[in-house]
Amino acid sequence: MKVCMIGAGYVGLSTATVLAELGHDVTCVDTDTEKVAQLERGRLPFYEPGLDELVARAREQGRMAFTADLRGGLDDASVVMLAVGTPALPDGRCDLSSVWQAVDTLAHTLSHPATVIIKSTVPPGTADRIRRYLAEAGHDENAVHVVANPEFLREGSAVTDTRHPDRIVVGVTSREALAHVRALYRGIEAPYVVTSPTGAEMIKYAANAFLATKISFINEMARICDAYGVTIDDVAEGIGLDSRIGRAFLRAGLGYGGSCLPKDVAALIHAARDKGVEPLLLPAVQQVNVTQPDVYADKLRDALGGLAGKHVAIWGIAFKPDTDDARASQALALIDRLLAAGCTVRAYDPLARCTRPDVAWAADPYQAAGNADALVVATEWEIFRHADWGRVKAVMRGNVVVDGRNCLTPESLQSHGLRYVGVGRP
Ligand SMILES: NC(=O)c1ccc[n+]([C@@H]2O[C@H](COP(=O)([O-])OP(=O)(O)OC[C@H]3O[C@@H](n4cnc5c(N)ncnc54)[C@H](O)[C@@H]3O)[C@@H](O)[C@H]2O)c1
Repeated sequence: MKVCMIGAGYVGLSTATVLAELGHDVTCVDTDTEKVAQLERGRLPFYEPGLDELVARAREQGRMAFTADLRGGLDDASVVMLAVGTPALPDGRCDLSSVWQAVDTLAHTLSHPATVIIKSTVPPGTADRIRRYLAEAGHDENAVHVVANPEFLREGSAVTDTRHPDRIVVGVTSREALAHVRALYRGIEAPYVVTSPTGAEMIKYAANAFLATKISFINEMARICDAYGVTIDDVAEGIGLDSRIGRAFLRAGLGYGGSCLPKDVAALIHAARDKGVEPLLLPAVQQVNVTQPDVYADKLRDALGGLAGKHVAIWGIAFKPDTDDARASQALALIDRLLAAGCTVRAYDPLARCTRPDVAWAADPYQAAGNADALVVATEWEIFRHADWGRVKAVMRGNVVVDGRNCLTPESLQSHGLRYVGVGRP
C-alpha cells in the first residue's frame, strides 16, 4: 500500500519504518524542513535504538521517502496517517493546532479515496470532528474514511513495540475502513480491539491515566513507608505478585514525565470537565506527581543541612533511559527546585540536554560529580546503575547520593563511604 505519514517524530518515524519493513511504500511528511533535510541526509533527528539502521534499509530498498510538501507526499496514497504532536496548552488542554493544520491541508488537497488514520493522541470526539470536517469540505464519507488508531509505543523501545504491540486499537465507523487497517498491519501479530473512534481515543487516555495512577500510587505508598520505616520495594513486590495488580509501573521514584503521561492526564481532566464530569482521582494523581520533586528536594535539604550554597550533581535529564527526550522530565522539575533554593547544579546525561543557562554541563558522570556536595540519580540509565562508586566518592566533596529512581543498590554505595538516600528505603 502507499502510505503518507504526516509527522516524522518518534511515533511517525518508528511506525513508518515498520510499515516499510512490512512492504509498504511510505512517504513521511513533516513541516519541519530542517528535520526533513536531516532525514534526507540519512541522519535521524532524535535517538531511538535500532531505528537508524531500519530507516537506512528502508531507503535503500526505495520504500521510504521524506518531504516537507504534503501535496507531494499525498500523491496517490491510499492510507494517510497523522502522527503530529499534540502537546499541552498552558491550561493543560490538548493543543490540536498541528492536527487541524494537517487536516485542513488534507481537506483541500486530497483528490482520491483514502483511509485517514489518526495515530496522534487526541481528546475523545476528535476523529468524529475530523470526519465531519472532511465531509463538509466535500469528501465522500464512503471514499475518505477516518479511523482512530492510537499508538502505545514507548520511547526507547519504539521499534520493538511497533513490531510487537500488545494490542491494536481501532476506532472505525465502517467495515471497509477496518479492512484497510487490517491490510496495513498484515504481518503484525496482535489482538484487535475494535470500537468506535471516540472509544479508541478514550482507550488511549485511559491507558495513560492508569499508568500514571500506578506511579503516583506507589509514590504515595513510598511516602507513607518512609514514615513507618518500611521498604517500598517489599511492598511493591508483595502487591505486584498479585495477578490482579501486576508488577509493572510500581517502582517508586521522582515520578512520571515525558511527552505523554503528564499531558494526557491533563487533557483527560479537561475532556471530563467539558462534559460536566468532575474527575476526583486524576487531579490527585497529578498532585502526587507534581509534588514528588519536592519530596526529593526535602530529602536533600535534610541530608545536607540546608540547600543554599550547596553544589548538586544531577545524573540524568531524559525522562527515562534510552531516549534523548527531556520533555516534561522530572529531573528538570527537581533542578528548578534546587536552583530556586540557592543550589548550583552540574548535570550529565548520555543523550538528553538541558538548555538552562544556569545549569553547568559535564562531559561525563564523574566530571558532573566533581566537588559536589550531593549527587542525584534522576534517570535510570544503565551506566549510572553500574557506576564506579569508589571513583564517585573520590571526586565528590560530600558523600550524599540521592537515588531518584530507587534503581541503585544501597549496600554497594555504603561500602564506598557514600550515604544512600532513596524513597521508601529506610
Ligand atoms: N512519543 C511517544 O512515546 C508517544 C507514544 C504514543 C503516542 N504518542 C502520541 O503520538 C503523537 C506524536 O508524538 P511524537 O512524540 O512522535 O511527537 P514529535 O514531537 O516527536 O513529532 C511530531 C512531528 O510532527 C511534525 N508536525 C507538526 N505539525 C505538522 C503538520 N501540520 N504537518 C506535518 N508534520 C507536522 C513536527 O514537526 C514533528 O516532527 C502525539 O499525539 C503523542 O501524544 C507519542
